[in-house]
Amino acid sequence: MQLPKLEILDEKDKRLRKISKEVTFPLSNQDKKMIEDMLLYLKLSQIEEEREKYDLRAGWGLSAVQLGVLKRIFVIVEELENGEFRNYVVINPKVKSFSEELIYVGEGEGCLSINRDTEGIVPRHARMTIEAQDIDGNTYTLRVREDVAIAFQHEIDHLNGILFVDHIDPKDPYKNAQLMREI
Ligand code: NI
Repeated sequence: MQLPKLEILDEKDKRLRKISKEVTFPLSNQDKKMIEDMLLYLKLSQIEEEREKYDLRAGWGLSAVQLGVLKRIFVIVEELENGEFRNYVVINPKVKSFSEELIYVGEGEGCLSINRDTEGIVPRHARMTIEAQDIDGNTYTLRVREDVAIAFQHEIDHLNGILFVDHIDPKDPYKNAQLMREI
């Protein structure tokens, strides 16, 4: 499989701080191609052999804004236990509800736009229900939990110009960890 050419913006790029706009349907062929490319890129980044071949960092999610496209679109690729991949195409997401319970990634979150070591934890809801549209504009409701819920919250943040490091207090990067569950 050929790696799609994607120019992923670095955190210093101010476009990552903008609020992405609602998407109207039908999508342009260009946007559909972008979505396909993002899905393939993430999948390849999660396959060790491909990752090494192309010198990639493993990533779960990408938002259109990370490619400089200010539209409320993101994708997530989840590797399942059987080695298959599940693709999520999420357009115009709305959070309908979320759990009180908070979790965090013990080893810290990562982002394909943040190319430096970071320290600290990001509080996330353990479960969440969202409503969104698929690539054809059909509305669907989805309940996500655990690491997938974290990925969704991370990407929804991108649509609002927020990066995961914004949630970390540099003076106290592990603040309130005892109040949350580590995953
Ligand atoms: Ni990110």
